[in-house]
Amino acid sequence: MAGITDVASKAGVSVSTVSHVLNKTRYVAPKTKAKVEAAVEALGYVPSTLARALKTNRTHTLGMLVSNSTNPFFADIVRGVEEGCFEFGYHLILCNSDDNAERQRTYLRTLAMRRVDGLIVMTTHGDPSFDRSLGTQSDLPMVVLDADEMPNVCVLGDNSVLGGRLATEFLISRGFRKIAIISGPSEHPRARDRRNGTEQALQEAGLTLPAHWIMQGDLTASGGHRAMSEFLDACPESDWPDAVFAFNDLMAIGAIRSLQERGIDVPGGISVIGYDDIELASYMTPSLTTLRQPGFEFGFQSAKLLIDHLDKQQKLPSKFVRNPRLIVRESVGKKPAETS
Ligand code: RIB
Repeated sequence: MAGITDVASKAGVSVSTVSHVLNKTRYVAPKTKAKVEAAVEALGYVPSTLARALKTNRTHTLGMLVSNSTNPFFADIVRGVEEGCFEFGYHLILCNSDDNAERQRTYLRTLAMRRVDGLIVMTTHGDPSFDRSLGTQSDLPMVVLDADEMPNVCVLGDNSVLGGRLATEFLISRGFRKIAIISGPSEHPRARDRRNGTEQALQEAGLTLPAHWIMQGDLTASGGHRAMSEFLDACPESDWPDAVFAFNDLMAIGAIRSLQERGIDVPGGISVIGYDDIELASYMTPSLTTLRQPGFEFGFQSAKLLIDHLDKQQKLPSKFVRNPRLIVRESVGKKPAETS
């Protein structure tokens, strides 16, 4: 296989000139650049990333850890990270911790050993003390998604307190007063924030959230289906809510399936609102009312913030937050006015 010295001699330039053309590390006159590119093409030269890494102590590679690669919202984030890496000339090593804290630790060690230049982490939230120590666990620049603020890392995500408020205020504006939730894992920062936003909006409307209307999900469709089914089995129909706020779209989809299996119309019997606005949300029947958070932008910005820090020495911000947006579709109806 041709090496960099073969390219240099074929183009009639120095090895360092070839390196500058390939790594864009210095201006090279167009004619000279064209000669180098022609020689690379003719020889089929492929730069050795290992050789470059040893020389520059940089691999131009980001590591990414996702907690659940089957969630379409996370897939949107990964797509954004990949787009950012491609646009800025970086490679990506993607690992799935499958929501397992031990697997998360193992992968973080592996990514550090592979000498990635920076890390993007969606934590499993299964080991809060470890999550909080992430910034001290590694001297790598790091962006952590959906976590509480912590030192030495950039925490990126949406304003879920606002999201909880928007969802609940919308249901109240549609005349609903008996509102239940399907929460994510209690240790999940975004689930906690959405619940806080919900309770703020309920309290301001003079409403409450009874404990038995707080269903526990795991951010999956099966978890939403199970939570809704167990609730319907346990709660007398006279005490059913007239609207359910599921803390992500997958749980909302599972809950709607459970309601429909029992002949309960959505939204005619019980309205349902989700969170994330995954692509499927607009293609379901009924289409899902939800809170949109910009997954692709979160991913792209995670990559861009790290690469700007690595290549341009730009300071990594301590947080990057976007507000969610209400997307109204068919799964939330209107509560008929009380007949006097
Ligand atoms: O769907 C996955 C959920 O967990 C999203 O709402 C995201 O905020 C993550 O925290």
